[in-house]
Amino acid sequence: MTETTVQTREDEDPAPPAFRRGRNLIAVASGKGGVGKTWFSITLAHALSRAGKKVLLFDGDLGLANVDVQLGLMPKRDLNDVIRGRLGLDKVIQSYEEGGFDIVAGRSGQAALSALPSQRLAFLRDQLIEVAGHYDAVILDLGAGVDRTVRMLSASAARTLLVTTDEPTSLTDAYAFIKLGNAAGLSKNVRIVVNMAASTVEGEKTYKTLLKACENFLRLAPPMAGMVRLDPRVKDSIRHQTPLLTRSPNTDAAEDVEKIARNVIADLLETRKLATA
Ligand SMILES: Nc1ncnc2c1ncn2[C@@H]1O[C@H](COP(=O)(O)OP(=O)(O)OP(=O)(O)O)[C@@H](O)[C@H]1O
Ligand SMILES: [Mg+2]
Repeated sequence: MTETTVQTREDEDPAPPAFRRGRNLIAVASGKGGVGKTWFSITLAHALSRAGKKVLLFDGDLGLANVDVQLGLMPKRDLNDVIRGRLGLDKVIQSYEEGGFDIVAGRSGQAALSALPSQRLAFLRDQLIEVAGHYDAVILDLGAGVDRTVRMLSASAARTLLVTTDEPTSLTDAYAFIKLGNAAGLSKNVRIVVNMAASTVEGEKTYKTLLKACENFLRLAPPMAGMVRLDPRVKDSIRHQTPLLTRSPNTDAAEDVEKIARNVIADLLETRKLATA
């Protein structure tokens, strides 16, 4: 392909459908499961809303959803209705008054959701991007790993916050996510979040370990979005199905997520500026 053809095609369609991005979509992903994605997504959505932003939290862990479980919600409508073609995505949005943000709930244990045909997934993605136009930020809580659903939703986001802990398996899987994501053209937008860090210093160290592996073997240097300290208040708030920022707003993990939220806001503004430049 010559330079000229590349130029012409870009002029015609700057974002091919498979990579159509929602400029205010922030995906939350991880290599290994159980690293705190869902909790972090909820708390980030809450922090952004407390900072005055209009936020939608989308449970994108199709088939193993649990945003509603962590918050003690009983959604009347969920993504299953959208996927079955019964309702549009905009019709299953519910407002979560406690947190001041909106939620699209998933449906747990629905195998059909985790193995959606590409076309349906693309349709869902397109609806999501359209709905996102009504919000300042949309947070996508994804399933662990880098399967087709994760790749497509992550590719449609402006940023993917990749959550890892300091456990070797979590770090190795985060590295694998970056490597596979790189092959799928996602790496540019990945930012690292170290969760359950023993201290700020330890969190930095964990990030540096991952960074070194990426630099040495992949020639990539994913920046850090921030880190969240290990905090017993997190479990406590989940047990009470109450968001951390309501129950323990001054605890370490709450402060850390609020800091990340400030970075996310700055980052979104920057992305918008670049897009309109
Ligand atoms: N900063 C933290 N401090 C202490 N505990 C934490 C912290 N972050 C998460 N946890 C704990 O980790 C557990 C798993 O969190 P969560 O369900 O959000 O992970 P996940 O990555 O979404 O899991 P899955 O991959 O199964 O979707 C929570 O029950 C919570 O108790
Ligand atoms: Mg989860």
